Amino acid sequence: MTRREQLAEHLGFFEELGVDGVSRDPSWRRRAVVTPRAAESAPVGDAPPSTGGGGEPNPDTLEQIRGDLGECTRCKLHTGRRTLVFGVGNPDADLLFVGEAPGRDEDREGVPFVGRAGQLLTKIIASIGLTRDEVYIANVIKCRPPNNRNPELDEVQSCEPFLFRQLDAVRPKVVMALGAFAIRALLGTDQAISRLRGTVYDYRGAKLVPTFHPAFLLRSPERKRDVWEDMKTVRALLVE
Ligand code: URA
Repeated sequence: MTRREQLAEHLGFFEELGVDGVSRDPSWRRRAVVTPRAAESAPVGDAPPSTGGGGEPNPDTLEQIRGDLGECTRCKLHTGRRTLVFGVGNPDADLLFVGEAPGRDEDREGVPFVGRAGQLLTKIIASIGLTRDEVYIANVIKCRPPNNRNPELDEVQSCEPFLFRQLDAVRPKVVMALGAFAIRALLGTDQAISRLRGTVYDYRGAKLVPTFHPAFLLRSPERKRDVWEDMKTVRALLVE
């Protein structure tokens, strides 16, 4: 693809998102990403959790959490999965996305959000000047439910502690919950997304922004504009 075609595609996506102008706010010229917090990051290696000055145990690293999951057989989803899909991205990310569960493509590749919904998510991330490598992406459920059915309560209960540990390891500034399922797991509410959207929630030391799931946007593209509004909120929180 030529540069001109790439630019046209990029602008076309902004149009789809409902972007109707260019901000004159100078902060938009800065990249949203904040420098890695290397000095604060959790220890690497297989040392047991140590305690910091405040007596609080340091969270496990992502490697330790992945190691604890192992070849997980904690719930019935293990029987149908091809690959356990842990998470991907920057372990020091300021922005962390939480989806529902892997689909067919993710189960094959072992990476979250690589199918059609994932490609849309990649564009949504790019809309605020970030790349997938700069954020962290995880799901509530790590194994594909058969025929992409909704995850069941026992599956959520065995899997969500690993998501919470991932959140504690990455310690993002902002968590974006994608869709009703992630919102329910994180905020513990059954309220409709349309009621929850537009508000920023305090969550495990981060700011949580609920939004629509990219798979829903593929079916209801008219809601992309709402997601663009949510991305502007995310971006503002990241540069705060
Ligand atoms: N949908 C999700 O919620 N997660 C994925 O990884 C892919 C699709």
